[in-house]
Amino acid sequence: MTGSATPQPPEAGGTISAEEYTLAMRRVVSPVAVITAAHGGERNGLTATAICSATTEPPTVLVCINREASALRLVDGAGSFAVNFLSETQSDIARAFSTRGLAGETRLRLGSWTTLVTGVPVLTGAVSTFDCVVAESIPVGTHQILLGRVVGVTSGEDSALLYRDGFFRRVAPE
Ligand SMILES: Cc1cc2nc3c(=O)[nH]c(=O)nc-3n(C[C@H](O)[C@H](O)[C@H](O)COP(=O)(O)O)c2cc1C
Repeated sequence: MTGSATPQPPEAGGTISAEEYTLAMRRVVSPVAVITAAHGGERNGLTATAICSATTEPPTVLVCINREASALRLVDGAGSFAVNFLSETQSDIARAFSTRGLAGETRLRLGSWTTLVTGVPVLTGAVSTFDCVVAESIPVGTHQILLGRVVGVTSGEDSALLYRDGFFRRVAPE
C-alpha cells in the first residue's frame, strides 16, 4: 500500500509516558465539577474535570472516574450520578471533594444540597447540574468511563470555577 499515512497502534511505537501526558494536560483549562452519588443511605462524591458533553440526542454526558474513588461504588450500586459544575465561589467545595478519604457526609456539610429525579445530591447555586442514569460503563486503564443519560437539569447565571496548572481559577475578560 502507498499513499496516506496510517495511524500506528501504540505497540508499533509512538508511545509517550504518563509524565509527558500529565505535563501537557496540566496546561489545559477545565471547568470543575463535583460528581455525586447516593446508594443504600450513603452519599459521597468527588471533584472531577474529566467530563464533557457526549451527545445532545439523547442528552448524554461523559465522565471519567478513577476506580479507587470511593463514590464509584455508590454510582455502580444505584446506577445513577449527578454532575454539578461549580461556580467561582464554590472552590471550598472543590477542595473538600478532592481531599482523599474524607467522609461523604463531611464533604456534604459544605453547600446546600437538594435532589432532582434520581435522588442523587444536587448542589444549590452550581452553574449547571445534570442528574443522570448510567447508560454505559466502560473500563479504560485506571478509570471507568461512564455515559450518563441526563434525566434532570438545572442552570444558573454564575461564572464557572476553572482549574489549570494545579490552581483553581476564575474566568477573566479578554
Ligand atoms: C481539579 C481536580 C480534578 C480531578 N478530576 C478527577 C476526575 O476527573 N476523575 C477522577 O476520578 N478523579 C479526579 N480528581 C481526583 C479526585 O477528586 C480525588 O481523588 C478524590 O479524593 C477521590 O475521592 P475519595 O477520596 O472519596 O476516593 C480530581 C482532583 C482535582 C483536584
